[in-house]
Amino acid sequence: MEIAVAGGTGIAGTEVVRVAQQRGHRVRVLSRGNGVDVRSGEGLDDALDGTDVVIDVLSTSTQSARVSTEFFTGTTSHLLAAGRRVGVGHHLALSIVGVDRAPHGYYAGKLAQEQAVQSGQVEWTIQRATQFHDFAAQMFRNAAVGPIHLAPRMRTQPISIVEVATRLVDLAESGPAGRVRDIAGPREEQLADMVRAWAVHSGHRGWMPEISLPGAFGRALRDGSVLPEPDADLGTVAFSDWLNAQPRG
Ligand SMILES: NC(=O)c1ccc[n+]([C@@H]2O[C@H](COP(=O)([O-])OP(=O)(O)OC[C@H]3O[C@@H](n4cnc5c(N)ncnc54)[C@H](OP(=O)(O)O)[C@@H]3O)[C@@H](O)[C@H]2O)c1
Repeated sequence: MEIAVAGGTGIAGTEVVRVAQQRGHRVRVLSRGNGVDVRSGEGLDDALDGTDVVIDVLSTSTQSARVSTEFFTGTTSHLLAAGRRVGVGHHLALSIVGVDRAPHGYYAGKLAQEQAVQSGQVEWTIQRATQFHDFAAQMFRNAAVGPIHLAPRMRTQPISIVEVATRLVDLAESGPAGRVRDIAGPREEQLADMVRAWAVHSGHRGWMPEISLPGAFGRALRDGSVLPEPDADLGTVAFSDWLNAQPRG
C-alpha cells in the first residue's frame, strides 16, 4: 500500500512511518523538510499522486483557538482537496480524547479539524487517542517558572506512541471507518505524579509544586473530561513501563 504521512517527522509521525515501513508499505513523508508545506498546499498534488491513504499526524504548537483552528482546518482542507484531485481513497486523522469536552484553544482547532474531515470529499477515519507517555516529559520542559518545574493536576490515561502508531497503520490497512473507538493506555494516572517521576528519572532533584491550572480548562483536566469513553480500546504499555525503557539522565 502507498501511504503518505503528513507530519511524518513528528513524535507520532516518526513511529507511524517506522511501523508502516516495517509492514512493507511504501511511505511518503509530507513535511516542510521534504518540500511539502501542507499549510500552503505547496507540493501536495505531486506528493499525493498515487497514494492510497493519507495519515494526518500534523501538529502546531499553540494555545490560541484562532491559530489552532486556522492551522488544522487549513491543512485538512489542503490535504482533502489535493487528495480528491489525485484520487486518494482514505483520509485518516489522529485526534485527541476530550476535544469536545475540555475548553482549550488547541483542542478547538482539533475539533474543527474533525468537522472538516467529516464534511470533506474523501472517505475518512478519525481516531482519538489520549496523551502519549511522552506528555510527562513535554510538561516537565514547558511548565516551569524560572528554575522551578511545576506538576499540573490532571487525570489522564496515557498511551504508548508505538501502540497509537500500530493502530493507525491497522486502520490504514482496513479502509475508511468513520469515527472509531477511542484508544487509551491501560490505566489512569495523575499527570503530576508522571511529571515528578519523569523528573527523577532524568536526574532532576528540585522541589516541584503541584498546581491546579486555572479556569474551565483546568477544571476539565481535573474532573476526568479527557479520560477515554468506557468502550475505549486499551493498550498494554503502562507509563512506568515506558519510563523504565527511557535512558536515565
Ligand atoms: N502529543 C500527544 O500527547 C497527543 C495525544 C493525542 C493526539 N495527538 C495528536 O497527534 C498529532 C501529532 O502530534 P505530535 O505531538 O506527534 O506532533 P509534533 O511532534 O509536534 O509533529 C508535528 C509534525 O507536523 C509537521 N508540520 C507542522 N507544520 C507543517 C507544515 N506547514 N507542513 C508540513 N508539515 C508540517 C512537522 O513537520 P516539519 O516541522 O518537519 O515540517 C511535524 O512532522 C497531532 O494532531 C496531535 O493533536 C497528540
